[in-house]
Amino acid sequence: MLFYLPAIGAHFIFFPYSSEGSDILLLTPPSSNVSLIEYRLIGGTLDLYFFSGPSPQKVIEQYGELVGLPTWQPAWGFGFHLCRWGYHDMNVTKEQVTSMREANIPLEVMWNDIDLYHALRDFTSDPVTFPAEEMRRFIEELASNNQHYIPIVDSAIGKQVNSTDFNDPYLRGAELDVFIKNPDGSEYIGQLWPGYTVFPDWFSENVLEYWTEALTNWSNLGIEFSGIWLDVNEPTSFCDGSCGTGANLSNTSIPTIHLPGDPGNLITVYPEGYNATISGPSGNITVNGTLTYGAGTSSGGSSLQKRGLGAAGLHGVDLTSPPYAIHNGNGGLGVGTLATNATHAGGYVELDTHNLWGMMEEKTTHLALQALHPGKRPFIISRSTFPSSGKWTGHWLGDNFSSWLYMHFSIQGVLQFQIFQIPFVGADTCGFQDNTDEELCGRWMQLSAFMPFFRNHNQRGALSQEPYRWDSVANASRTALNVRYSMLPYWYTLFANASQFGSPPVRALFYEFPDEPELFSIDQQYLIGRDILVTPVLTPNVSTVDGIFPGRGRVIWRDWYTHDTIHASTDGTNTTLSAPLGHINVHIRDGSVILLHAQPAYTIAETRQGPYSLLVSQAADGYAFGTAYIDDGETIPPTPNRNLEFHARKGAVTISGNGSFDVKEKLDSITILGTAALSAVSVQGKEVHSWEHMQAQQKLVVTGLGLSLNDQITISWK
Ligand code: GLC
Repeated sequence: MLFYLPAIGAHFIFFPYSSEGSDILLLTPPSSNVSLIEYRLIGGTLDLYFFSGPSPQKVIEQYGELVGLPTWQPAWGFGFHLCRWGYHDMNVTKEQVTSMREANIPLEVMWNDIDLYHALRDFTSDPVTFPAEEMRRFIEELASNNQHYIPIVDSAIGKQVNSTDFNDPYLRGAELDVFIKNPDGSEYIGQLWPGYTVFPDWFSENVLEYWTEALTNWSNLGIEFSGIWLDVNEPTSFCDGSCGTGANLSNTSIPTIHLPGDPGNLITVYPEGYNATISGPSGNITVNGTLTYGAGTSSGGSSLQKRGLGAAGLHGVDLTSPPYAIHNGNGGLGVGTLATNATHAGGYVELDTHNLWGMMEEKTTHLALQALHPGKRPFIISRSTFPSSGKWTGHWLGDNFSSWLYMHFSIQGVLQFQIFQIPFVGADTCGFQDNTDEELCGRWMQLSAFMPFFRNHNQRGALSQEPYRWDSVANASRTALNVRYSMLPYWYTLFANASQFGSPPVRALFYEFPDEPELFSIDQQYLIGRDILVTPVLTPNVSTVDGIFPGRGRVIWRDWYTHDTIHASTDGTNTTLSAPLGHINVHIRDGSVILLHAQPAYTIAETRQGPYSLLVSQAADGYAFGTAYIDDGETIPPTPNRNLEFHARKGAVTISGNGSFDVKEKLDSITILGTAALSAVSVQGKEVHSWEHMQAQQKLVVTGLGLSLNDQITISWK
């Protein structure tokens, strides 16, 4: 929990560092203005950590020293990812890649959900709908275009149910004795999509060998993935606790579950404001040229379900019903997951280790991917996390809803995971559950383009929501992706700082401006690093957005697109900005220098092969500073790298660097904002003429530089 008290600064309390369930209650007695926090653990270690800050960024870094710093992400991970549950065969999957290319919307990584599986089992591909050899060719074609492929791995391994049913990943796991057990030593049986299942026991001796072998076999079979998506790893199980040692294993159906999109479970809900009666099921916001959005009543939309304190009570003293049952609002502790008496190697029981399951799977997967792709940074996105998960994985925010409310919540979610030291995070863009619509999807594609992990993912049976489906969404996506890819060196530097020092790449406004209390509760805007302010539209049917410009008039904020200075309110109140569909407001802080890719291209690899440009946004006194970290984007550090420093003072910008990495791409141009009229520009001491000055924006642009970033550089003007 991060606290900020103006007189003291920031401090942070980390508790409980426990793998067991707990309640954390905020109690405010009636007629009192003092709140108490009550921690109730059902067992385990009682470790309480205080981090003294004093700045918000410092407390986050201090916490990182304890739990471990985030894993290095490969550069391609910052590209755009496309997924859905419902790409039911390889052709449909391929069509997405083609359609994205035809619409010229950058696609870096194509994903498949459980549709890929044979009989819904891990480490398989359906021989009819996803033939392995054809999948190999498809993935190799992606690779030849600098694109990548990621499949899902579910938490549970399909159990062999009779003597004619072979499932190698199950047989091999049983042979290596890597599955969780019942207290009597028999195999623990749960249930997931494939029917009855067993669960890897990450405490067991042979589990890394097992997992590495399973992933390697799958890759060799044809599913040549670049990264792995770890899902349902709380872990999810549909039985209430154990399905029972005596379960009828030949019954592989899941009787109570209608998959979304099937009769009985159709997806009928649309975002707030959308009127399906007028607009039909298309999700379009115009019909025959007329705007229908917001006309009439909402068709439902989603509001957050409030979870009251559940009715859990005292049930006895055994493991399956511990004396204190936490108020998780979901009944007993084994509901929807493993029973509390499920038993791990070494005699650990699930009650004591439950919260570790996902993190231990992430660690095992990370190590397995290192073995499979030696020297390459593993790319993993996982649903369940625990303190230190960031060392192994990135995260997505889980099954959200296609609603404006959830788009707004995604900002809180991403900010929280910066504190948790799992900074590579993002939401299911355009929303997962329910139907999206054109306007929501367009706004959300633009917001997520300014988040670390950018994936559009959709529920089975819901309205298709790939960014090429609507012209307005395609346009919005192209614009935002263009900015994202040009900013890649900046993102990459922020993530290098996260992996080296624990500094949060995405920041709440008050982290940077702690003396401005009006910023404490802001979750509609955020900063990327120190220098980029994002003010997204989070409500339907509007063409303006309100936002605060931190600094109370002492900071010059410039528009990303026009470079114009914003004349914002100087007293900490909102300023209204124009925000037509297809435009997301992004502003640059003064005193900053940002290295950019000058030619954002279709993929990250092509973008990285292009030249650089530099954007200098001077403070009123001419000062500006920035850094950039550059390496090959894929090797696990320590790896050759180059650290650049950019300094601006009135009349000159200097670039210096150190490190052994050879930066091949040249610095092509520099844009310096905040320069008054001038008569001459020099590069490395020699006067040049390839420059232009725009008086209205006080902007100097010098082009045709062709300078090596391996050298010291000075650009001056007078
Ligand atoms: C879970 C995941 C979701 C996935 C679905 C089917 O709900 O959170 O992302 O699409 O399972 O695998």
